[in-house]
Amino acid sequence: MAAIIEARSLQKYFIESTGRIADLFFRRKKILKAVDSVDLTVNRNETVGVVGESGCGKSTLGRTMIRLYEPDGGRIIFKYDDITHLKGDELKKYRRFMQIVFQNPYSSLNPRQKIKDIIKRPLDLHGFDDSMKLVYEALDNVGLPKDYAERYPHQLSGGERQRAALARAIALRPELVVADEVTSSVDVSIQAQILRLLKKLQEELKLSYLFISHDLSVVRTISQRIAVMYLGKVVEEAATDELFANPLHPYTAALFASIPDIDTPWEPQLLKGEASSLYSVVKGCRFQPRCPYAKQICSEEEPPFKEYGKNHKAACWLYER
Ligand SMILES: Nc1ncnc2c1ncn2[C@@H]1O[C@H](COP(=O)(O)OP(=O)(O)OP(=O)(O)O)[C@@H](O)[C@H]1O
Ligand code: SF4
Ligand SMILES: [Mg+2]
Repeated sequence: MAAIIEARSLQKYFIESTGRIADLFFRRKKILKAVDSVDLTVNRNETVGVVGESGCGKSTLGRTMIRLYEPDGGRIIFKYDDITHLKGDELKKYRRFMQIVFQNPYSSLNPRQKIKDIIKRPLDLHGFDDSMKLVYEALDNVGLPKDYAERYPHQLSGGERQRAALARAIALRPELVVADEVTSSVDVSIQAQILRLLKKLQEELKLSYLFISHDLSVVRTISQRIAVMYLGKVVEEAATDELFANPLHPYTAALFASIPDIDTPWEPQLLKGEASSLYSVVKGCRFQPRCPYAKQICSEEEPPFKEYGKNHKAACWLYER
């Protein structure tokens, strides 16, 4: 399968002042490794889910992969092109093909603009001539009536706003859409509609998705493959069915054990300990402070992220012989 986008050892760090006077004096800063050497590929026409607890770096990974954030290390390959350090017009050529839809359609749509202007703006920025025609096409694609073009965001329901946000993203005919918690702010019945719409758009427009969510059952419904993130790192990645049938990493197993009605051999006994923070990731395996299976090497060396089954990768010393 051909890749649409690849992150190779991708890093994104945030640097913050500690706020302490002594640290200011010595210019000491805290480094938060939000994305810490991540390898992840999304293939054409595929949906890759990214799951993990709040703050583990999912959104930062998505944004860095499509170059909304400047990476601090590693590489990003879009199709066959290295886009890691592109700037200005060079980067703009790729922006069109990599779009993002955010969790909150209340804040991501400008309340002072009509829906038609919200969808049309990026089309104009990218120099499309027939932009109004494309606006109507996009509305039609997401199942919103033509006259919604004249409405303001506050005249739409939550689900309709999320459709409008999707229309803005797909109007540009992207190849990759990062869907960041797109179903988190709507209720369950609307969630199902949005998921069906995403699948329909994927088929019709040949889209690839990086689907970020902390909701495992939603990710399971839509993704062919899932990457599990823990404190800035992907700790496991496999095809969806394989991952649910055979979770290798104790953190993945703990996540699954936390969802009701999932047939898993693991007991919901994990995640008791204190997680280390992104500021102070422990030596060795970052899950070690919470892992009941930890052995000596776990606190000494970071486990390699390796294939332990067909297309099934994990970072855990339990599987290393
Ligand atoms: N622009 C930023 N500047 C500084 N720190 C940031 C920035 N964006 C994210 N962070 C920090 O990076 C870490 C990862 O954040 P991120 O938003 O990627 O997590 P997430 O997995 O998407 O969480 P959630 O599930 O809550 O959306 C967090 O500690 C967050 O505070
Ligand atoms: S490497 Fe060790 S501490 Fe980390 S998840 Fe595996 S067993 Fe647990
Ligand atoms: Mg997020």
